[in-house]
Amino acid sequence: MIAPVRWAGERLVLLDQRELPVREIERRYARWEDVAEAIRALAVRGAPAIGVAAAFGVVLAARQSRATTFDELFADIEVAVKGLAATRPTAVNLFWALDRMRRIAEGLRGATPDAVRARLLAEAQAILDEDLAANRAMGEHGAALVPEHARVLTHCNAGALATAGFGTALGVVRAAHAKGRIALVWVDETRPVMQGSRLTAWECVREGIPHRLIADAAAGSLMARGEVDLVVTGADRIAANGDTANKIGTYSVAVLAKHHGVPFYVAAPFSTIDPSLASGAQIPIEERDGAELRRVGAQQTAPDASPVFNPAFDVTSATLISAIITERGVFRPPYRFTA
Ligand code: MRU
Repeated sequence: MIAPVRWAGERLVLLDQRELPVREIERRYARWEDVAEAIRALAVRGAPAIGVAAAFGVVLAARQSRATTFDELFADIEVAVKGLAATRPTAVNLFWALDRMRRIAEGLRGATPDAVRARLLAEAQAILDEDLAANRAMGEHGAALVPEHARVLTHCNAGALATAGFGTALGVVRAAHAKGRIALVWVDETRPVMQGSRLTAWECVREGIPHRLIADAAAGSLMARGEVDLVVTGADRIAANGDTANKIGTYSVAVLAKHHGVPFYVAAPFSTIDPSLASGAQIPIEERDGAELRRVGAQQTAPDASPVFNPAFDVTSATLISAIITERGVFRPPYRFTA
């Protein structure tokens, strides 16, 4: 099984996603500051995986702390929570996981530092285990929407690598593939960071899932030719009304799908839903370094002097989404995320 984030005795272990698909390199982390840098630099990425990694970052902070009293330890935990929260703004799973860890610590007021450390480790492991279980449940719910001989298009990587394992959108594909329903997965390469070609294609090769890589710009003509039966993507944050932030380019795919009458599904756990935001207009969108666009790998593809606009995510209006697949079932518009 692909395990992008795991705890190994004393250390957090991350499969460094910057190295894929060329090298499978695991890195070990003993300091929360290094976990924060790994999140910022995309060594670990994907909304649920970021949340799990950050939860273990809090565990490391508690273990790094020399505190001998609860209050000292809690102060150190709060510094780490703030530092980890400052890494990436869009995926709400990060803040959800950090808030959950912080509240667990706060609820242990008066306990010994070692008791708090042990409880935090158990909570981070629970967040990981719950994400894995949610993905498997999502896979089953989503597979029911996939017809026989389906040709599915996906954008970015919402696979095992982006989660605790199994994946959200690619989890739906995995579950449907296990039932013999997948004829082909069209994998958008996903410029500029290439999560589709580097990561989703890598997962498909590893699992023997039939797929073909396409330039992002090819999705529309494929739909026009009737070669896409459905689209499924992940999500980084879903507002209360169903508006969904996901990897840049998702919105374009959703508009194309609407135009061509192709169902457009989003698969995400409840930890990706942010009920505090009424609509997608309030979702903060990360802007990343222009260097991501001026180079492909080591190859320069634009003048250094060219200014760049590089939003990492866009928002797809709920009106373009046929259904949202969660671990608690399939939600259809108008979206009300209860149950
Ligand atoms: O910048 P990234 O690679 O972290 O962006 C990831 C995505 O947009 C994924 O589609 C999303 O996090 C869902 S992952 C299950």
